[in-house]
Amino acid sequence: MELRVKRASRIDLEITVPGDKSISHRAVIVAALSNGVCTLRGFLPSEDCMHTVNAMRALGIKIEQPEPTTLLIHGKKRVLTAPDKEINCGNSGTTMRLLAGLLAGQKFESRLVSDSTLSKRPMDRVIAPLSEMGASVVAEGPEGTPPLRIQGGSLRGIHYQQSVASAQVKGALLLAGLFAKGKTTVKQPIPTRNHMEKVLNYFLVRTTTEDDGSVTIFGEQVPESRDFDIPGDISSAAFWLVAAGAQRRGHLLIRDVGLNDTRTALLGVLLRMGAQVREAVDDVEQLEPRGVVEVTGVPLKATVIQGKEVPQLIDELPILSIAGALASGKTTIRHAEELRVKESDRIAAIAHNLRAMGAQVSELSDGLEIHGPAPLHGARLPSFGDHRIAMAFAIAGLFAEGETVIQDAECIRESYPGFETVLEEFTNPKRMQISTPVIGSLAPAPAEES
Ligand code: S3P
Repeated sequence: MELRVKRASRIDLEITVPGDKSISHRAVIVAALSNGVCTLRGFLPSEDCMHTVNAMRALGIKIEQPEPTTLLIHGKKRVLTAPDKEINCGNSGTTMRLLAGLLAGQKFESRLVSDSTLSKRPMDRVIAPLSEMGASVVAEGPEGTPPLRIQGGSLRGIHYQQSVASAQVKGALLLAGLFAKGKTTVKQPIPTRNHMEKVLNYFLVRTTTEDDGSVTIFGEQVPESRDFDIPGDISSAAFWLVAAGAQRRGHLLIRDVGLNDTRTALLGVLLRMGAQVREAVDDVEQLEPRGVVEVTGVPLKATVIQGKEVPQLIDELPILSIAGALASGKTTIRHAEELRVKESDRIAAIAHNLRAMGAQVSELSDGLEIHGPAPLHGARLPSFGDHRIAMAFAIAGLFAEGETVIQDAECIRESYPGFETVLEEFTNPKRMQISTPVIGSLAPAPAEES
């Protein structure tokens, strides 16, 4: 599928975004381990999350889906049954790594397979700690890559110092720790998103977090069945926030979006770049804060993104690179070598596509230098099979002269079904509500004197 994009019209919109991907995966797994029926609302029915749903079905859990965004999960009190065939994780790294942790604690053998892209991504980061806990996890691909063959069993709790800051690995170890004897502690070099902890805590599983960010889970607990509403995904909202934030006097309001502070670093970056940004949490009842974000656009200024901020906005770096190309000055992204092992080598993909649109970019081993403001022109761009590259460059197309064509754009369905419909509103507003400011009065920025 090709996605054709033309220049944005004046942005003044109010939208919502689909459910959070990270929380959807985790809520499905923890609800499946609980002691009863749980209704999940606001579930993200994307290809990635459906791989997790189908995996849990293959492990003997009944999951009904009366509507695309509602799941009824019949928890079986931690009892899973051996799958009768291999489990396909598709393109979803989160599915594969979280399941590796879960299956490490089961007394049967299982095999996790994936598509050709995920088959190249590193799994040694979960294999090493899970082996230390007592499971046999074998990577059948070269250099620690999928498929994974897992023979679980009696696990012992460990104290593990991660070398790479990864929420997927932390999540895998917490799930394994739930089935281990004693306590399992995961220490990270830099704190990452804490959804696994929050979802476990919401389902009344006790974990503790120390000041240094290390998280401990006590084994052999049973999650309590509860209903759960999943907030909108701030990483999906990020595409629209940058589009509005980079358009002088653009205005956008997004309601009911997740505002967990391990995920909102993007808002701070947009503020640094000069955009007016406000967030207001209006509900924390289910442990995951949710609320409203409002942005008003200005001509953006370049910034530097590095260090501890990086794991907190790792998925937003493709769209922030577009913000960098639109901003005046040199935007620098450092310490982001993890981007090279995402759904594509995102550093190379961003540099390739920005250059194709006329921007001046230098590729660094761990990031990028982007010179703006670039007079972007439309181009035919590969998606590299990567949903976030496809969406980031669709947003770049809103600021380009002429038409931009994103090739192989079907990968967008992995995280954001319905993206194209919202995109259409940014170029040809028809259906969506025009926004009225709700957080104080975030008036459009004054037009600049020229
Ligand atoms: C995710 C964690 C991040 C992120 C990914 C989702 C998660 O990956 O890039 O899209 O849900 O835990 P890492 O754990 O590899 O940093």
